[in-house]
Amino acid sequence: MTTNHRDADRRSRVAAMIRLAGMELTDDEVARIEITDLGLGNLEAEGVQIATMVSTPRLAFKAIALFGGQTMPQHRHPVVGDDPGKEETIRVLSGECRLYVPGEDTLARGYVPGGKEDAYTVRNELVMRPGDQRTVEPGTWHWFQPGDDGMVVLSISTTARDTLDEFSDPAVVR
Ligand SMILES: [Fe+2]
Repeated sequence: MTTNHRDADRRSRVAAMIRLAGMELTDDEVARIEITDLGLGNLEAEGVQIATMVSTPRLAFKAIALFGGQTMPQHRHPVVGDDPGKEETIRVLSGECRLYVPGEDTLARGYVPGGKEDAYTVRNELVMRPGDQRTVEPGTWHWFQPGDDGMVVLSISTTARDTLDEFSDPAVVR
């Protein structure tokens, strides 16, 4: 299979997951689903799939899907000019979402991807289920991970400038 066919197949699986979770998508939104390994070369272990429904200079509304075994690497949304950085609310639509933020290390249900201890330094674990939500303040390190069956969450935020996000792992290329 070529990369394009693989991406199209994965995009279809992601669209099905998001729709099953109750968020309808247009064909155009499906075609624009972003699939990225963040340059780390191991999409099944570290990466993310994102459908963007709204992205304006003031706000963003996205659905983030992760498959079981896949982790969204630790990152934060920095100050950009006059903008204090993206404030992001994560609300769970389906599955279990383990969200990690600064605080006491309570990591228990989740795990740090193999050999990446230095890249996952905030380990206050919040185990969230459908209907749960949490707001991550601008500039706050965070990462998330699903249960074995994967997850779909909404990301409701101020404007997204994904290419400027900071990652703990220096190997990340956004
Ligand atoms: Fe984020």
